[in-house]
Amino acid sequence: MRIPIIAGNWKMNKTIAEARELVGALRDELTRVAADGKVQIVLCPPFIALAEVAARVKETPIKVGAQNLFWEVKGAYTGEIAPPMLNEVCDYVIIGHSERRQYFGETDEGVNKKTRVALAHHLTPIVCVGENLQQNEAGQTAQIVGAQVRAAFTEIARDDARRCVIAYEPVWAIGTGKAASGAGANAVIGLTIRGALADLYDEATAQTIRVQYGGSVTPKNVAEFFAQPEIDGALVGGASLLAADFIAICQAARK
Ligand code: 13P
Repeated sequence: MRIPIIAGNWKMNKTIAEARELVGALRDELTRVAADGKVQIVLCPPFIALAEVAARVKETPIKVGAQNLFWEVKGAYTGEIAPPMLNEVCDYVIIGHSERRQYFGETDEGVNKKTRVALAHHLTPIVCVGENLQQNEAGQTAQIVGAQVRAAFTEIARDDARRCVIAYEPVWAIGTGKAASGAGANAVIGLTIRGALADLYDEATAQTIRVQYGGSVTPKNVAEFFAQPEIDGALVGGASLLAADFIAICQAARK
């Protein structure tokens, strides 16, 4: 049984003061939702608010994640954040988000390096994959997403791979209000992503790794995704900034 995992990716939103306010509005209800371990909830604020958010959910089942990390552990890399720094404040890290690939030049090779270093430092990677609109329209979804999964998991041992979470986020669905269909996302996750994992490892590993859907998830459409057998939760952007919406999405994951 894969336990669903809902992560809120706050992206470049919320000052420390605003983060404190949002976590204050989320904490009690999300604690109730996650209390019996039937759903895992992760908040991913900007780096600068990580410690503040972590301190405020410390005695709760709510977990915290970063939105990125660097693959070296220390040194002259101005502006970067190293895995041991994250170890002090969080358990999860989003890797290879399409915005990082698109605006900051992240490559499949970099995603693999970051995933390996995160695992080596006992962080749980949330590895993002997904095709863009042009690739989707050209019928290249399986080819692109399959290649992203194979690249991300290069030289990662089976037991380490099993600790990862994958987020399938079609780029055309992110922040557009045009979510994928539940059945469409289910097919990509079941056939392409689990198929690639079964090729890389084995069927049992492919069935163990949790795969979220992300892209315009809202309280209105979330039930359609959670009803799908291959989808193990959601990576939520815009709706994770609204306390009532994020709570509703997390509650829906229990059903
Ligand atoms: P939206 O939910 O705003 O579409 O963002 C999805 C996303 O990119 C989460 O990482």
